[in-house]
Amino acid sequence: MSIARHGSSSAHAAFAGPHVAIVMDGNGRWATAHGLPRPAGHEAGVRTVREIVERAVEEGVGTLTLYAFSSDNWKRPSAEVSALMRLFRRALVNEAKRCLRNGVRLTVLGRRDRLSSSLRETIDQVEAVTVAGTRMHLRIAMDYSARDAMVRASAALRGESVSREAFTDLLARVDHDLVPARDVDLVIRTGGEQRLSDFLLWECAYAELLFLDKMWPEFVGDDLAEALADFRGRNRRFGLAPEQVAS
Ligand code: IPE
Ligand code: IPE
Ligand code: MG
Repeated sequence: MSIARHGSSSAHAAFAGPHVAIVMDGNGRWATAHGLPRPAGHEAGVRTVREIVERAVEEGVGTLTLYAFSSDNWKRPSAEVSALMRLFRRALVNEAKRCLRNGVRLTVLGRRDRLSSSLRETIDQVEAVTVAGTRMHLRIAMDYSARDAMVRASAALRGESVSREAFTDLLARVDHDLVPARDVDLVIRTGGEQRLSDFLLWECAYAELLFLDKMWPEFVGDDLAEALADFRGRNRRFGLAPEQVAS
């Protein structure tokens, strides 16, 4: 797989290969269907993350953004939120070790100020440890809201008008993303719902969308490979006439 890096339109380094963003939905329903408590579904979801990150590297994905916790997810029962936060800390440490071995850079996208100080420390550590990774950029979206990010970025502009590229970089900055990612190429949502749930609304302007009925704990590497094959067969036009794209 090529590990070449190229300058993005916003003059930041970007990882080669498509940007795939996944709404990892369905953990709770999967657990309920198996007679398990919802947190057991989230545990199973972490195992899927492990498999999918490895497969994404093999499949040549450049950036993989995983939606782990939305800002609206704070409204869930506090026991579920606490279980998720504990799980995130453990999973980040384990994932960082694997990322290091596989040349993957790991960063966390979203607000940090409402996370516990121990989770914030863990995030700082895993980002530092994996900083030299060049094979793939793995972004975990946590306490993430696309609309909140856009509101904060707009406030930071103080009335100044900027280019799309500059606004993209500003969005990354307000969400602590160290490596501004390119636009999303493919969104995959498991769990059967067909919506974005406040995920990467700006970056998904021309994203291809793929909605799957499988619950996240049931999603396997071959499903990712199939999704990528589907994506490669799509005809992306970015506003142009079909004849312009074919030439
Ligand atoms: C996605 O699974 C994980 C998080 C939102 C943290 P859900 O927990 O939303 O699972 P369902 O949709 O209730 O099945
Ligand atoms: C979106 O899933 C957030 C994550 C997967 C982390 P939700 O389960 O929170 O989304 P809705 O409520 O069904 O839209
Ligand atoms: Mg859900």
